Amino acid sequence: MAVMIDNHVVQTAASSFAIGTDNLRRIESAFIYDLDRGVDGMEPSSLKMLPSFLDLPTGREEGDALALDFGGTNVRARLYHIENGKAAVLRESARRLREFDRENALLYDYTSSKTRPEELFDFIAGIVKEAVSGDTQEEYPLGWTFSFPARQERVDQAELISWSKEIAVPGVEGQDVVRLLREALERNGLKNVRIKAVVNDTIATLVAAAYSDEKVTAAAIYGTGHNTGCREMYVRDKDRPPQLLNLESGGFSRLMRTVYDLEVDERSDRPGAQLLEKMVSGRYLGALFTNVAALSVRGEREEIPPDLEDRLGFTAEDMSRFMLAEDIAEKRSVLAVKFFPALGKGFSLDRAEIAAFRGLAEAITRRSARLVAATLSAIVRHNSETGEIKPQTIAVDGSVYANMPGVARLVRAAIDELLGEEGKKVELRRLTGGSGFGAAIAALM
Ligand code: BGC
Repeated sequence: MAVMIDNHVVQTAASSFAIGTDNLRRIESAFIYDLDRGVDGMEPSSLKMLPSFLDLPTGREEGDALALDFGGTNVRARLYHIENGKAAVLRESARRLREFDRENALLYDYTSSKTRPEELFDFIAGIVKEAVSGDTQEEYPLGWTFSFPARQERVDQAELISWSKEIAVPGVEGQDVVRLLREALERNGLKNVRIKAVVNDTIATLVAAAYSDEKVTAAAIYGTGHNTGCREMYVRDKDRPPQLLNLESGGFSRLMRTVYDLEVDERSDRPGAQLLEKMVSGRYLGALFTNVAALSVRGEREEIPPDLEDRLGFTAEDMSRFMLAEDIAEKRSVLAVKFFPALGKGFSLDRAEIAAFRGLAEAITRRSARLVAATLSAIVRHNSETGEIKPQTIAVDGSVYANMPGVARLVRAAIDELLGEEGKKVELRRLTGGSGFGAAIAALM
């Protein structure tokens, strides 16, 4: 028997990813429920709603500041000059956390379970050093965007709760990452760099967007990872001002999951954690597609490699390329890049199979967009105390939102589906680079 695709498996999976309006409303309500329970950490909730000890900027913050962005894929340091509401990047240095050579052999990896914390933090400090051109004299305030769940007691301290996005460096969870970075800066001779603030990327994006738009109420990251931050609406303790909250919405767990979601979760570094993120974010969309693709392969046992799923390894970028490919031939070649090396020469893909995979890619993407929309709509409802929705802006940044075909349009449509006419009052604003700029502002606040 030749190796082939069982189209039925692909089609069944695609239809299991559909979420109708009623179910979308249920998810929206469940998210509101968890938001209500999470206020001041009153009741157990799957949303961490972490305080940032920062409020919105005034829009008058000015000066020179370093912004360090550490999010899971890249590390970027930028020296900003901010004046009269305008920002100029004076110097910049960036590097990937993992790098491969042309033959796809690993050159280095600072994300693995074999990396020591000092190696990771020295690597980051090295990038900061480049951004200040090795200057160890002049004082630089630094704002750090640290895009992982962290518990803060002050704006310049943050204890990593747990890694996400498949970063596995041991010995950092439970530690104050600001202290680890400060020590690394000192080891690298950079006593002149002062860490003023550490913020989640949702908070940095919120700060960056609010710097020039006072209607901004929330900011979502919709890329490799997923999360939303918003301004706190209900403060029980009247003695303290409201602040910006990192919801860690990627951890939302009141969801209806398919068997494919269960598999992807089980194969991940942290089964049971970040359940929403595993259904919507770029880090996992490709894994969902891969999981179904592997399950759909039929053939004799010896024809199918036991590690087929690892070999296929479709990414969200592959899915985008596949959806964007204009004709069948081009679509076939995108799939072939992963399928052929894994299954050998005898394997072929016909028109119907390619159409089934197209339906699958679209269904996974559509579900992702609709789920994110349900959480944003829930945040809007939760934050409208009187029940009347105020005109407001939600900033959105991230590669899935910016690059995956149809995603931005699908999010918009699902928000309108949930909020009806009121949806018109919610503007979604695409933002790029907010997590760097916002960190620089935070350092100057
Ligand atoms: C992290 C969040 C982060 C999001 C987007 C998630 O994996 O837990 O803290 O905001 O990714 O980068």
